[in-house]
Amino acid sequence: MATVLVTGGTGYIGSHTVVELQEAGFEVVIIDNFSNSNREVLDGIASITGKKPMFEEVDLRDRKATYGVFEKYPGIGAIVHFAAFKAVGESVEKPLAYYENNLLSLIHLLEAMKRYGVNNFLFSSSCTVYGEPEQLPVTEDAPVKKASSPYGNTKQISEEILQDAMVPNPEFRVICLRYFNPIGAHPSAKIGELPVGIPNNLVPFITQTAIGIRDQLNVFGDDYNTPDGSAIRDYINVVDLARAHVAAIGRLLDGKQRSPFEVFNLGTGKGLSVFEIIHAFEKVTGVKIRYRVTNRREGDVEQVWADTGLANRELDWKAEKHIEETLLSAWNWEKFLHAKKSTG
Ligand code: UD1
Repeated sequence: MATVLVTGGTGYIGSHTVVELQEAGFEVVIIDNFSNSNREVLDGIASITGKKPMFEEVDLRDRKATYGVFEKYPGIGAIVHFAAFKAVGESVEKPLAYYENNLLSLIHLLEAMKRYGVNNFLFSSSCTVYGEPEQLPVTEDAPVKKASSPYGNTKQISEEILQDAMVPNPEFRVICLRYFNPIGAHPSAKIGELPVGIPNNLVPFITQTAIGIRDQLNVFGDDYNTPDGSAIRDYINVVDLARAHVAAIGRLLDGKQRSPFEVFNLGTGKGLSVFEIIHAFEKVTGVKIRYRVTNRREGDVEQVWADTGLANRELDWKAEKHIEETLLSAWNWEKFLHAKKSTG
């Protein structure tokens, strides 16, 4: 089987994808600079799959070092590109760092593809490109809206760079996966999300509140035009999401694409409100979440969920896990982190 290069492979979605790729029989080489992860994730992966992935500590902003990885592993047949900064708020504070890191990394990988004859590329994109969609569920041909943050803009620009790079390189094959809201952790609780500092995202904030790291959750607005007034998202289990990458890699390597550049939504097709998430978490864990309602968070959209028909049909993939199982996996991961911290 082909070797797959996974950039950002020790990150949250990256590590879960490495596990699924290994379990599907692929050889995996990870590139990471641990900017938002750590070396222990490699042990977590190995303890699930029984196999430590090959690993190179490289910063993709370093072109020479990036090329070095392709020289060392001539068997690379496809790239899954996760490595990127991803905090919306931070991107407003440090826009240039976001453009430099997220765009330069992509450019260096594309240059390396040309130079070393690697043609298959899977890109980690986001539903943020749809902004506040006019129609729900949102399909892949919904218009791309002006990004509300530099982070979101790097995803939009990256998709454009990929399309432009294909013009003089007709041998390139690209799939962009637009993630909705990935949550949860591997059922083994050996890998999961590692938020640094105060979590921005809902589910890590809930699990940290439940375990006592945070006093209470702020619910950002209950005056939206939704049934219970809180905002609605499409929360997808990270293992389901990871499996979609395996399907997409297979599609690239087997030459099954309908066109050389494709885009797929990865979600469940179902929207859940903030209050529904809180209640589902309380039900499945038996832990009450202290919360208060605050103002809306700037830049948040009211509601968005995916039309997953295209991904279901073309990737022969479907999100399978129920929200309660997913929230329980997030809780088990939080408890694992807590136990590890207490035992030093
Ligand atoms: C957003 C982007 C997503 C991006 C992600 C990275 C959209 C639609 N999605 O996700 O593409 O990858 O940021 O961080 O723009 N909430 C609270 N209290 C909290 C935290 C969140 O009420 O403490 C609410 C939010 O208002 C939102 C929901 O929970 O309604 C989910 O928020 P979050 O987990 O931050 O994800 P998005 O903002 O949807």
